[in-house]
Amino acid sequence: MAWDPVGKVAVITGASSGIGEATALRLARLGMTVVAAARRQDRLEALAARQPGIIAHVTDVTSTADVDALAARVRDEFGACHALLNNAGLGGGSFDGRDDLDDALHTLDVNLQGTIRCMAAFADLLEMSAPSRVINVASVAGKLGIGPAGYAASKFGTVGFTEATSLSWADRGITVCQLNPGFIETEGFPQTQVKRTPAGRVVGRPDDVARAIHRSLLDGATERTVPAWYRAFVVLRHVAAPLYRFGAARIDRASGSRD
Ligand SMILES: NC(=O)c1ccc[n+]([C@@H]2O[C@H](COP(=O)([O-])OP(=O)(O)OC[C@H]3O[C@@H](n4cnc5c(N)ncnc54)[C@H](OP(=O)(O)O)[C@@H]3O)[C@@H](O)[C@H]2O)c1
Repeated sequence: MAWDPVGKVAVITGASSGIGEATALRLARLGMTVVAAARRQDRLEALAARQPGIIAHVTDVTSTADVDALAARVRDEFGACHALLNNAGLGGGSFDGRDDLDDALHTLDVNLQGTIRCMAAFADLLEMSAPSRVINVASVAGKLGIGPAGYAASKFGTVGFTEATSLSWADRGITVCQLNPGFIETEGFPQTQVKRTPAGRVVGRPDDVARAIHRSLLDGATERTVPAWYRAFVVLRHVAAPLYRFGAARIDRASGSRD
């Protein structure tokens, strides 16, 4: 039976800008109740004022207490969570040595552990609300080790956690999806360097990802790449690793991540 979003409850982390904000607007306009979570209260309140159906909730996903409080509020106020979108994330910097340790660990804490915290806090409510969806916004960098190493590690971890739970949670009526965007221009990921290269032509917009998230909610996909043709690089990575590494090294240099 088709999954009808109308009247359902969604929680989106990282909803104060970029992909999360675009997705909150899209889902609320469809008729979902959207709990928009992030740290910047002013941005969340401005978002809630723009569109009925959006509720602002300040959360830091690195805090287990914050995430548990978010889940408790959703359970108490709405009695259900039909869709959990783990989207909060940051890029982090390059990893060259000891000076970069804190940054890499923080990136893992937000991107990977934040996702795990949210899935832990919402698991029972998602099961009670089945058929329900978890969409983890990972990245093509979670399939290909390009860009800042801490970021790639956080997204490889997210892909692994997502793939494992997509199997182990299926019997509970919860579909867990890895949503892997390519280059998208947002506040945290301005793509300044990429836009200076030929690859700049393929930089997408937050709404491209919001549309893909919407589709994944409807069809219950367990994996989606935006745009889809990025999957060709993933296939190349596995079937022709030396050729892939040659190309990836050139892109890495051109994108300036070693500057
Ligand atoms: N843009 C791309 O090219 C791209 C490509 C692949 C994957 N992604 C992924 O897409 C997701 C969204 O990124 P975006 O591109 O939309 O960037 P963005 O506009 O910078 O949005 C990041 C969001 O994460 C939130 N956030 C950061 N740290 C947080 C924390 N500790 N607790 C709660 N929320 C936190 C930010 O809100 P506050 O600062 O208000 O907390 C913000 O709403 C990320 O997971 C990113 O890795 C992006």
